[in-house]
Amino acid sequence: MDAGRGEFGRGEFGRGGLRWLACGEDVVPAGEGWLVPRERERLSRMRFTKRRTEYLLRRCAGKRAVAASLGLPTDEASLARIAMLNAPGGAPYVEIDGQRADFDISLTDRAGQAVALVGPSGSMAAGTLGIDLEIAEPRSAGFVADFLTPPEQRWVADQRAAHGADGWDAAANLIWSAKEAALKVLRVGLRADTRSVVVTVHPVARADGWGELLIDGGAQAFPGWWRRDGAFLLTLATRTLTPPPAPMPGSADLGVAIPTHSWMANPVHRP
Ligand SMILES: CC(C)(COP(=O)(O)OP(=O)(O)OC[C@H]1O[C@@H](n2cnc3c(N)ncnc32)[C@H](O)[C@@H]1OP(=O)(O)O)[C@@H](O)C(=O)NCCC(=O)NCCS
Repeated sequence: MDAGRGEFGRGEFGRGGLRWLACGEDVVPAGEGWLVPRERERLSRMRFTKRRTEYLLRRCAGKRAVAASLGLPTDEASLARIAMLNAPGGAPYVEIDGQRADFDISLTDRAGQAVALVGPSGSMAAGTLGIDLEIAEPRSAGFVADFLTPPEQRWVADQRAAHGADGWDAAANLIWSAKEAALKVLRVGLRADTRSVVVTVHPVARADGWGELLIDGGAQAFPGWWRRDGAFLLTLATRTLTPPPAPMPGSADLGVAIPTHSWMANPVHRP
């Protein structure tokens, strides 16, 4: 079956806009039959349960997102046709039946949940999109002072003045998350100084849960979106102004998901 480049290449994702899918650890298949050999090889080099669990969870979200976009089933054999691979700098790309798919993907996970964002074609040097998931966890004054810029610090302080400790934590994590999303678009991740990009958040979300944000990277600015679902904060950044992503069929509801840290029960992997 040729469900790869021909049917679902640049045109399909370009026309259809962005789409997102969340999934939890509960749907990650047991065993490795749903992975391609290169994914298994990378997994085999991971000793710590946290890294393994997160790697598998992100693969699961990415493969399910691609399957949902292509109308493929999500059994293990079908997921094994879809590979979530990484360029040398770490940025993910997709192969379907061993062929490079012509659309961009961004992956993230936090506390037992992962999200995949799929959109128009990017390149290894210049992505089109980035996504980042965080939880509204406590962040210290030192964290805010060290990693955020002065205008971002002022906004976080304003949120505490208006909404108390949760306002501070949500704002600090939201800014942090949007920085990571933009640095994923740039394909650099946290190799870059987090203060090299400045985030402005429109604090009121729309009826569909998405609120606007803008990340100023000096030479270029990245429009983006944020949302809060229960304990989880999700941000995304794009190269060009794009409507918020549509949820894909089969996506988990982050609003009812409880943050988990399953790896703690068994921190070191013993095959
Ligand atoms: C990108 C980065 C900020 C994300 O870290 P994080 O918030 O802890 O983790 P998230 O779950 O949100 O995102 C992880 C995913 O980001 C993506 N990613 C990693 N590096 C990326 C990059 N340079 N550009 C775009 N996306 C990247 C990957 O898909 C990764 O998941 P995968 O390895 O399973 O495919 C971090 O991985 C980073 O700074 N990477 C670059 C530096 C580095 O250490 N690279 C090592 C690999 S060569």
